[in-house]
Amino acid sequence: MHLHLRDGGMLETVGPLSAETFAGAVIMPNLVPPVDELQKCLAYRERIQAACKSEAFEPFMTLFFRQYSRSELEAAKSHIIGIKLYPDGITTNSEGGVRKIADAEDTIALMEETGIPLLVHGETGDFVMDREERFLEVYDHLARKFPKLRIVMEHITTQGAVKLLDQHANLFATVTLHHLIITLDDVAGGFLRPHLFCKPIAKRPEDREALLQAALSAHPKLSFGSDSAPHPQSKKECCGCAAGVFTAPIALQMLAELFDKHDRLPNLQAFVSDNAVKNYSVRPPAKKVLLTKQPSEVPEAYGDVVPMCAGEQIGWSVEKITD
Ligand code: DOR
Ligand code: ZN
Repeated sequence: MHLHLRDGGMLETVGPLSAETFAGAVIMPNLVPPVDELQKCLAYRERIQAACKSEAFEPFMTLFFRQYSRSELEAAKSHIIGIKLYPDGITTNSEGGVRKIADAEDTIALMEETGIPLLVHGETGDFVMDREERFLEVYDHLARKFPKLRIVMEHITTQGAVKLLDQHANLFATVTLHHLIITLDDVAGGFLRPHLFCKPIAKRPEDREALLQAALSAHPKLSFGSDSAPHPQSKKECCGCAAGVFTAPIALQMLAELFDKHDRLPNLQAFVSDNAVKNYSVRPPAKKVLLTKQPSEVPEAYGDVVPMCAGEQIGWSVEKITD
């Protein structure tokens, strides 16, 4: 869940890597221009399916949040699993997003009525380490005001967000692999590591610990969302590094290693798959992935995209995939 596949040549490079080991993914709409019309969304879905070349991979589509009319929402409903709200300019390709939540509420009310979930990039324009924490009051407000609206706090990074999850029945969340592993120290505590730079930025050890405990215990309202976000090497290793960590091809192996290290392998299936299926109400095709405790080496690059942990060894491998 929560995947950036981009378009064109980049989609051709990264699409098959997700389609191989995952049965489905929630596809983010932050293309340039954004996917904010049903026709664009359907055409994008076709391009994804053509690039992925796999029957056993379902792209669950989303629209980019803007003011939508009731008829637009009704027409889109059976083709999308949610609408993704980005605050204007908060991250990669989010220009044209929401400036004031109050201005979004007419559409949010229609989404509640039509039963379309709201997926949110929850950050304000405050100091970078406080952006998610400050946004929690927005989640709290929306969850109370729209009790029938399903709200997914995408890629949470703070202890506060984990706590909020238990306070509203209609609030769900995803967490990435990297936010379970790194803190800001890994990004900027020594040499700057551009391939770990993302939004929301990795936080403090206590935040990582809260996220990790929630993931390892397979908290039923939390699921894995990789937020795998590829950028060409030239856009990462430069002055003005783009935000995004590319993890799609190594995510399952690294999650297996992490859950094994903490003796929680039995909870991996719920965290990666079962919780996601319930929380997003999606039905991916059947797929079995056999993971084994055999070391594998992370490639230096996939095309011109450098993955997290490039060139390093992981303790686990994908041995076999069956439909
Ligand atoms: O780091 C990020 N990269 N965070 C996002 O929210 C967007 C993503 C991207 O599209 O590159
Ligand atoms: Zn994302």
